[in-house]
Amino acid sequence: MSDKMIIALDQGTTSSRAILFNHAAEIVGVAQQEFTQHYPGDAWVEHDAQEIWDTQSSVLASLIAEHKLTPDQIAAIGITNQRETTVVWDKATGEPVYNAIVWQDRRTAARCDELVKSGWDTKIREKTGLIVDSYFSATKLEWILNNVDGARARAERGELLFGTIDTWVIWNLTGGKVHATDASNAARTMLLNIDDGDWDQELLELFGIPAQMLPEVCSSSDDFGSYSLEGAEIPITGVAGDQQAALFGQTCFEQGMAKNTYGTGCFMLMNTGAERVDSQHGLLTTIAWSLDGKITYALEGSVFIAGAAVQWLRDELQFIESAEDSEALAEQANPESQVVVVPAFAGLGAPHWDMYARGAIFGLTRDSGRAEIAKATLQSLAYQIYDVLNAMQQDSGIELSQLNVDGGAIANDFLAQFQADVLQKPVIRPKVLESTALGAAYLAGLKVGYWTFDDLSKVRDIERTFDPKLSNETITRLLKRWNKAVERAKHWVD
Ligand code: G3P
Repeated sequence: MSDKMIIALDQGTTSSRAILFNHAAEIVGVAQQEFTQHYPGDAWVEHDAQEIWDTQSSVLASLIAEHKLTPDQIAAIGITNQRETTVVWDKATGEPVYNAIVWQDRRTAARCDELVKSGWDTKIREKTGLIVDSYFSATKLEWILNNVDGARARAERGELLFGTIDTWVIWNLTGGKVHATDASNAARTMLLNIDDGDWDQELLELFGIPAQMLPEVCSSSDDFGSYSLEGAEIPITGVAGDQQAALFGQTCFEQGMAKNTYGTGCFMLMNTGAERVDSQHGLLTTIAWSLDGKITYALEGSVFIAGAAVQWLRDELQFIESAEDSEALAEQANPESQVVVVPAFAGLGAPHWDMYARGAIFGLTRDSGRAEIAKATLQSLAYQIYDVLNAMQQDSGIELSQLNVDGGAIANDFLAQFQADVLQKPVIRPKVLESTALGAAYLAGLKVGYWTFDDLSKVRDIERTFDPKLSNETITRLLKRWNKAVERAKHWVD
């Protein structure tokens, strides 16, 4: 088995990637393509679903070509993805009826307010573990059915299918044969009852969603059909939302283990085992994964903007040429600067949940420049994680002794060090930062017997540990300023 490899497809918010892993869980190859972000309205964010599939299939093809892979060398394919993003397409033609509405999109904020006002929030929380917010798929799907010409009638006639991005990729990868999702992705729709792992009839009625357009909910390590390559069939056997996949990739298999992933957003998840833990401090209760129909739950702190803030420094402010340059620029900042950036570009997620907050820069003085703003932007990632970690410790009653991190943005040493300082805890960075893809590979590999759980627990390799250097007193002062800034950024738009 060990000369074979596993391919993980990682369909993220800004790029589609295909990553090749060997039996030692090392990365053998990566193919990546960015795709277009569409902003058709204030705080509206869309992707062209066809472009998502085109870039995803093209990186898969180039990975296979570059490594001259033959079908017998690929043990299985795993899929992981940006979650919540909503696609509706025609069952017969495969054509999307509207652009994919992205998880960051806030167009349904007013509808969410209405749900809260009419008292649905408690029931939705009980059933789905989620806070009513435009982040999740339900109101996005409802919006498509209500606003795209003829969509509702076609959906009722059984002509349209709904899926989150995993489902869209599976459907295309299998040539339209399989319409399925896994429990970790389904849990993000606000339509799934996370206690029994099934679509919830009452919520389907509330949002007017015909049940026949929903995918089948499978386990995360399961049979999702196959991909045809040169006349052979390669099994697709692992699927999980990217944040849950990263928890799995970091081998957080035991209750109380947690990780934080720095991608477009930042998502801290703690495995809470077979029991759901309901948050009192603004976190989500979600499905980490389901294996052989057995659900493992997680507490999640979702921060919407992290790496995206560094992209903002690069693309909108044009302060840096590449994301990596942010580290050197931040190091040049005046140490006395009191600039604070609140990157609430898509509102605020955990623990604040304010759909109407917007980004802000505070504390500018005449000498504040690119370096001070870059530094404050990187620091804002760490502050957001401080807020989430605090909430998580209070909810779980577990004091984390360290923070396991992963994701592209935490390759930045300035950020990793400052994160350790703010938390006053060691930050542990593994050799493979691609825990998300690794988790999908693990889920796929387990199903086909490529790996066992024992194998997985042995392969984790630490690259560097960052220990706190700044004093508790300094951090308390910095956090006071951060809290003041966050309060001022709240409820910005009406
Ligand atoms: O919930 C949204 C999340 O899945 C997006 O992940 O990696 O694109 O920031 P990422």
